Amino acid sequence: MAHAYPGRSSARHPGWPARLGPLRVRAGVVALRPVRLRDGGVWSAIRIRDEQYLAPWEPTMPGSWAERHAPGEWPARWLQLRAAGRRGTALPFAVTLDDRFVGHVMVGNVVREPLLSAYVGYWVDSSVAGGGVITGAVALVVDHCFTRVGLHRVEATVRPENAASLRVLEKLGFREEGLFRRYLDVDGDWRDHACFALTADETRPGGLTGRLVAAGRAERVHTTPA
Ligand SMILES: CC(C)(COP(=O)(O)OP(=O)(O)OC[C@H]1O[C@@H](n2cnc3c(N)ncnc32)[C@H](O)[C@@H]1OP(=O)(O)O)[C@@H](O)C(=O)NCCC(=O)NCCS
Repeated sequence: MAHAYPGRSSARHPGWPARLGPLRVRAGVVALRPVRLRDGGVWSAIRIRDEQYLAPWEPTMPGSWAERHAPGEWPARWLQLRAAGRRGTALPFAVTLDDRFVGHVMVGNVVREPLLSAYVGYWVDSSVAGGGVITGAVALVVDHCFTRVGLHRVEATVRPENAASLRVLEKLGFREEGLFRRYLDVDGDWRDHACFALTADETRPGGLTGRLVAAGRAERVHTTPA
């Protein structure tokens, strides 16, 4: 399911850049690829329309939501994400549904030996929410982290009020480790976050994607290499 760009994956950051999927879920066909400069227009339109749905779960930042998500903000963000990908500290994936940009799965804070650890964060366009998109996308990304990237542990922190995100992690079999008090400044205040994690040895053969397929939540889509 993982196709690293031939000859471009660096020894310092194995598994990046990469394309993952496709995987069929209820909403359609999900795939992941590195974020692109030309994602800016769609990114801005979704993020501005979805302020009320996204803001309760996202870190507090200076400036208004509309200013921070104007189309002109994307090039600088994209450059930062691309640089982090090249440095080996992040895997900034765009999520596509039927080839259309619909959100992000971000692997961040990648720490190599001896921890071999990272966090995963995600969001999706509200118009496709509830269709299994992010569950499928996170499964593909975590499987990639435990294989090509060579990580040992992937962590996710979630506000206990975020029922949809908790459900994503539950479907994927993430293990709850505890509660981080006043962990992150989200939506204007320091909020408690539940910490979930998975280590590579906890996943069964076939990985998280295989788990979703076995549960009837996803189907692998076979493509012929170009
Ligand atoms: C969390 C989020 C990424 C999930 O994406 P998604 O593509 O809708 O996720 P999925 O469809 O794969 O799974 C969501 C599950 O939560 C369930 N769900 C959604 N809203 C819910 C609610 N209010 N209460 C309980 N369950 C809920 C869905 O029914 C689905 O479960 P099911 O497959 O058993 O029916 C999306 O809701 C989102 O972008 N939210 C805003 C940003 C955010 O919270 N990011 C994560 C921060 S930790």
